[in-house]
Amino acid sequence: MELRTVEWKDDSVVMIDQTKLPNELVFVRYTDYNDVANAIRTLVVRGAPAIGVSGAFGMALAALHSSSKTKEDLLSDLENAKKILFETRPTAVNLSWALEQIMQIARKSETVSEIRDDVIIKAKQMAEEDININKKMGKNGAELFQENDTIMTHCNAGALATVAYGTALGVIRATNESGKNVRVIATETRPIQQGSRLTAFELKHDGIDVILIPDTAVGYTMANDLVNGVIVGADRVLQTGHVFNKIGTYQVATMAKQHNIPFYVAAPLSTFDLQSKPNDVIIEQRKASEVTGIGDKKTAPDDIDVINPAFDMTPPELISGIITENGVVKPPFKESIKQLFPAN
Ligand code: MRU
Repeated sequence: MELRTVEWKDDSVVMIDQTKLPNELVFVRYTDYNDVANAIRTLVVRGAPAIGVSGAFGMALAALHSSSKTKEDLLSDLENAKKILFETRPTAVNLSWALEQIMQIARKSETVSEIRDDVIIKAKQMAEEDININKKMGKNGAELFQENDTIMTHCNAGALATVAYGTALGVIRATNESGKNVRVIATETRPIQQGSRLTAFELKHDGIDVILIPDTAVGYTMANDLVNGVIVGADRVLQTGHVFNKIGTYQVATMAKQHNIPFYVAAPLSTFDLQSKPNDVIIEQRKASEVTGIGDKKTAPDDIDVINPAFDMTPPELISGIITENGVVKPPFKESIKQLFPAN
């Protein structure tokens, strides 16, 4: 069975509850956009493209259930829903991109019923496009890997971080589908363990060879020639090629540079932010309890001070290439990224 992280079904949003994985595969159904916002906030759904599409479906619920009788009132309800959905998580740019795409469609539509229909159609299209884009990215990225390569990945940039197929794991899937046998080393990805809970679950579910390591074994596995390449996803890519992704990505990239191992990022064009500078990007800071315990077990002294950023920034000089649906861009990124967006 192909994993569908989030979808529109019978006028509601259905998603896998990722907080329950890998122990239970449970689906939740929402009919109120406030519940979708809460699901994004509490990591029921996570991963940049998945939260983008979930945001779009949240807007579709807001349009569907608004009691507004005029276009102006409905647009105002949608602006309100957009604000609530936007405030859930600050780092992945796909969320604001998706919300704005929906608002543009709503503003163009003429009547209340047209807005409702057009917003729902657009959100459903965005979900389908996400899968097509991931498959294109997969094909483009598959060229970069060889038969029998072992590829390291960090966090989860798979089917569970998108609607289906995945970005970084999509490239691994496509490499396998092209007939090259590759295997994966997944980092555990403390503190929320997207690597062990989600990447290891998803790859095993799909029959792809995967080995789990603690985050602290990244250097060991690279120094012992166990890794041929690294591929990760991204929450935001700047015009300069700075990549924001799960905390720890910067360490993995630095270690890859030290061992001359190519480090790739797979990101759709909707993850690019051509306006922001590195210091403009808000890094989500999460609660201390994620670090001071594992599950219900306390693993640190009471009242210890904690720094718990959810993301970090990898500078362009550590990145060998960025795989997109429109091709693979290589350094110098300032020039190559510009060519991805000819209209800007
Ligand atoms: O906090 P999360 O689980 O939402 O973080 C997810 C990541 O950092 C992913 O690597 C990123 O969103 C890319 S997903 C295709």
